Amino acid sequence: MDRTLVICKPDAVERGLAGQIVARLEAKGLRLAAAELRTIDAETAGAHYGEHKGKSFYDSLVSFITRGPALLMVVEGPGDTYKVVRCLMGATNPKDAAPGTIRGDLAIEMTENLVHGSDSPESAQREIALFFPGLPVGKTGL
Ligand code: RTP
Ligand code: MG
Repeated sequence: MDRTLVICKPDAVERGLAGQIVARLEAKGLRLAAAELRTIDAETAGAHYGEHKGKSFYDSLVSFITRGPALLMVVEGPGDTYKVVRCLMGATNPKDAAPGTIRGDLAIEMTENLVHGSDSPESAQREIALFFPGLPVGKTGL
């Protein structure tokens, strides 16, 4: 099975939307391979969002993702799982996200956009290893 990393960010847990997000992934046909409610530490957040280091929004992004418990998940499907998840998530800016997507239906601010999904097979492999060391990464499309 092809695996990717999904995070219900702290805003999703605070707003009681984690269950609905999981339900949308499962209803699509994806299955949970691992899940844990965890407050991400600053070091792990820095590794996760390393591509954004130096950008204007980096500090607030790390503060946001570490501010409370997040639901970390590895989900799996028959192929291109990262793409399937990104389609369900909708555009990064919820103001641009299509109705029917998680961000389009449930979020409005770019800084509180509820969900993270790996953006490529390589990212999926790296992020699964970062958050769930020792878990088989699956194919991740590679
Ligand atoms: P994520 O990594 O959180 O799943 O989101 P994404 O792939 O859709 O977007 P990405 O480009 O990786 O950006 C990561 C998070 O940073 C915030 N952001 N702010 N102010 C800005 O221009 C800006 N750009 C990105 C967003 O909260 C985004 O989810
Ligand atoms: Mg991203």
